[in-house]
Amino acid sequence: MNDALLELCQISYRYPDGSVGLDACSIAIQRGSRNVLIGANGSGKTTLFQHTNGLLRPQTGVVRYAGMAVDYSRAGLRALRSQVGMVFQNPDHQLFSASVQEDVSFGPLNLGLDMATVRQRVAAALQAVGMTEHADKAVHNLSFGQKKRVCIAGVLAMQPTLLILDEPMAGLDHAMQQELLAVLDQLHAAGITLLMATHDIDFAYRWAERIHLMAAGRCTASLNATDLGEHAEALAAVGLPLPQVITLHRALVERGILPANPPPRCTASLLTMLAEAKITQETTC
Ligand SMILES: Nc1ncnc2c1ncn2[C@@H]1O[C@H](COP(=O)(O)OP(=O)(O)O)[C@@H](O)[C@H]1O
Ligand SMILES: [Mg+2]
Repeated sequence: MNDALLELCQISYRYPDGSVGLDACSIAIQRGSRNVLIGANGSGKTTLFQHTNGLLRPQTGVVRYAGMAVDYSRAGLRALRSQVGMVFQNPDHQLFSASVQEDVSFGPLNLGLDMATVRQRVAAALQAVGMTEHADKAVHNLSFGQKKRVCIAGVLAMQPTLLILDEPMAGLDHAMQQELLAVLDQLHAAGITLLMATHDIDFAYRWAERIHLMAAGRCTASLNATDLGEHAEALAAVGLPLPQVITLHRALVERGILPANPPPRCTASLLTMLAEAKITQETTC
């Protein structure tokens, strides 16, 4: 069934200096799914993202949101941006108000919502990212991870249908990454479609349902994460290895230690399989 929320069809974009940002790039993001865009630096991930909410306009090709070609009029872009929330890679490019509260209020105020609704949305968004107690703080006094959370709150306050995050894990420590993933789990459970750029194939395999490979301005393949093990060649073509957990699992299957199915998606599942295999061996001795 085609239930694409976002579609980019044959998009090409060259920057004014002649650099190719996208080259006949096509991708479809299904409603309610968790997606990763993975590719080397310069492969076009950020350029693609900037086409999803009309920050860039394709020179050829068409962007469709909810089945409709994007309308680049002021009103059309306003409507699109209230649906497609974007968290930039660098929070300093996104935050511009003096205080946390002001920054998170900016989007909902711009939507023309009444003050009571704005306050309620801002409070809910700050709570979702664990920043309630920092509401009155000056943005420039926050840590990098806190700034990132304020960016996410600002986007959440718009109540987007699609949330796009450009390399959100970069620069966050392990604990902050786990917190961010918990927030994303909640959003996904609430029905928000997620699209994230990353370099990390192990993370992509663990987290995503669909993995879109990018190279030289093109999406070279869109794969179900569960089938990733069958696509070593497509990964190698964009300079990526198989996820480590697949390689390890295969070695253990070859040695007759673990069953081939179901393949684990993360180290924790692999360890659980190993623990269960050990129990079976012990009980059969
Ligand atoms: N503002 C810009 N001006 C000129 N070239 C750019 C600009 N932004 C990106 N590019 C070029 O476009 C290509 C894709 O870049 P980008 O979308 O930033 O890739 P990624 O996000 O995957 O690292 C690269 O060759 C990059 O150098
Ligand atoms: Mg980028």
